[in-house]
Amino acid sequence: MCGIVGYTGPRPAVGLMLDGLRRLEYRGYDSAGLAVVEDGRIELRRAAGRIAALEQALGSERPTGTTGIAHTRWATHGAPTEINAHPHTDCGDTLALVHNGIIENASALRTALAQRGHVFRSETDTEVLVHLIEDLYARDGTLADAVAAALRQVEGTYGIAVIATREPDTIVAARHGSPLLVGIGNGENFVASDASAVLAHTRSVVYLDDGEIAVITPRDHRIIDLRSVEKAKAITHVEWDLATIERGGYAHFMLKEIMEQPESVRNTLRGRLLEEDGAVHLGGLNLSDEELLQIDRIVITGCGTSWHAGLIGEYMMEELARLPTEVEYASEFRYRNPIVDERTLVVGISQSGETADTLAALREAKRRGARTLGLVNVVGSTIAREVDGGIYLHAGPEIGVASTKAFTSQIAALALLTLQMGRLRSLSILQGRQVVRALAGLPDLVERVLARAPEIERLAGRLADASNVLYLGRGYNFPVALEGALKLKEISYVHAEGYPAAEMKHGPIALIDELMPVVFVAPQDAVYQKILSNVEEVKARGGRVIAIVTEGDTNVARLADHVIEIPETLDLLTPVLSVIPLQLLAYYIAVRRGTDVDQPRNLAKSVTVE
Ligand code: F6R
Repeated sequence: MCGIVGYTGPRPAVGLMLDGLRRLEYRGYDSAGLAVVEDGRIELRRAAGRIAALEQALGSERPTGTTGIAHTRWATHGAPTEINAHPHTDCGDTLALVHNGIIENASALRTALAQRGHVFRSETDTEVLVHLIEDLYARDGTLADAVAAALRQVEGTYGIAVIATREPDTIVAARHGSPLLVGIGNGENFVASDASAVLAHTRSVVYLDDGEIAVITPRDHRIIDLRSVEKAKAITHVEWDLATIERGGYAHFMLKEIMEQPESVRNTLRGRLLEEDGAVHLGGLNLSDEELLQIDRIVITGCGTSWHAGLIGEYMMEELARLPTEVEYASEFRYRNPIVDERTLVVGISQSGETADTLAALREAKRRGARTLGLVNVVGSTIAREVDGGIYLHAGPEIGVASTKAFTSQIAALALLTLQMGRLRSLSILQGRQVVRALAGLPDLVERVLARAPEIERLAGRLADASNVLYLGRGYNFPVALEGALKLKEISYVHAEGYPAAEMKHGPIALIDELMPVVFVAPQDAVYQKILSNVEEVKARGGRVIAIVTEGDTNVARLADHVIEIPETLDLLTPVLSVIPLQLLAYYIAVRRGTDVDQPRNLAKSVTVE
């Protein structure tokens, strides 16, 4: 999620690292920092904001040390402030560390380290790690040994790089679940989270695998495992150009973000599922169980894709938590005279956390005494700061204008909130466990759907000439139909409509002829038999039917011109799987039509005006 660059060699590290950070900045980071070893000390510079703010903080008297690490942060734990920016240092300012990922057992480690006298300066999970390494490094041995010993105690994900005054030309880097590579130069070496950061200097890299540690000096690099056993690793020659690397090898950010969904959904759920209790742990709600029990009604608000996620949340909340729930367009809610009071929970959903209407709707709700929560992706954004509490999506930066991975993470977060409210009310432990298990298995199922991308690309070839497409779904998959239509229209400029399938006969059925592709979202859920009749109605009028179905389905498959299968899961979680073929379909159609997929006309990533 965040960016790491490190350098050790004969040249001053600061300028090289700033160049590397700039290469990573396109992702929209919110704070940055660097540290170098100089004359036996760690020189640390950090700033909230973009790289330019860090450059300003560096001033004209830049540190001249030749071994250093640098970081651009996309906040997950703690606000995007200077104090929370990386690198973090230990109590004695002899170590500096940068970290991507999430340390799940940070609070237990923090308590133990505080008892041993460590003093913490930030709210981050990362700082815990640097103190843990300090603790272990104090007992002799090398920095690499101390890092390995620390990582053996850590649960979670990380890509880290560490420097120490005691070993002034060494960088120790390690990876578990967060990408990292060593860039091999001539008498100088690099570490980076992304090849684009080192490509100006070398195309020879060693990609670290999970559980590996790199020990890097100007003339050498060694790879060891967490038990300090040496490993032989191949050097890869990077062929890609810079622009391709920034997109992880994908043609567009949108495709990259679609493909990231197993990981982004996993990150939304990470550390939050309590399988034994059939419940969830949501640290940021800032509402006690007693306060949550006072809530007698929920209003979900948002715009666009986030509003679609809200509709799915409504169905979940009423089915599982038995709480009356409404979903309102934020732009409508804010100017109505809505009935909310202190027993109403108003949940704002927003990827950016900056959407003007959603922010205004939440402010209006707060003014009227409602409790407010935010389901937000961007940490420290205005909505995240202003609500009473919330659930961060942790989906990682979303650059493509069309929202994809944020949507599936929003659904996952809504399922978490539903479990929280449900387990306080009518949901039994057994029902809770069933949902928790299904959630835990979801990222692997997402992966299975993504494996169908080539099939969907071929289908897109056949649909690329359509000038209208109808999307139909029922129950949990009605909002998916809306989302599928929105994806298509916004990036390919093809007119598309989403409807609840049964509404078709109240008007839109008049549109159907042999030229009209109709996309049915028809997994085998509680309304499967009902949607099957709707498919028959369309076929009877000569429509071309494309259907998203459950693996092994034969009923819809018999009628449809083309089916795309998704794995089976609980009804409430099917949208996470069924939307993916629609995202891919829209993407491949847009590519065929030659539109600017990542930056479609007239659209902005963050709508901060009403
Ligand atoms: C569609 C899309 C928009 C956003 C909407 C709300 O692909 O991205 O419809 O969902 O502008 O934005 P956020 O979630 O940032 O509040």
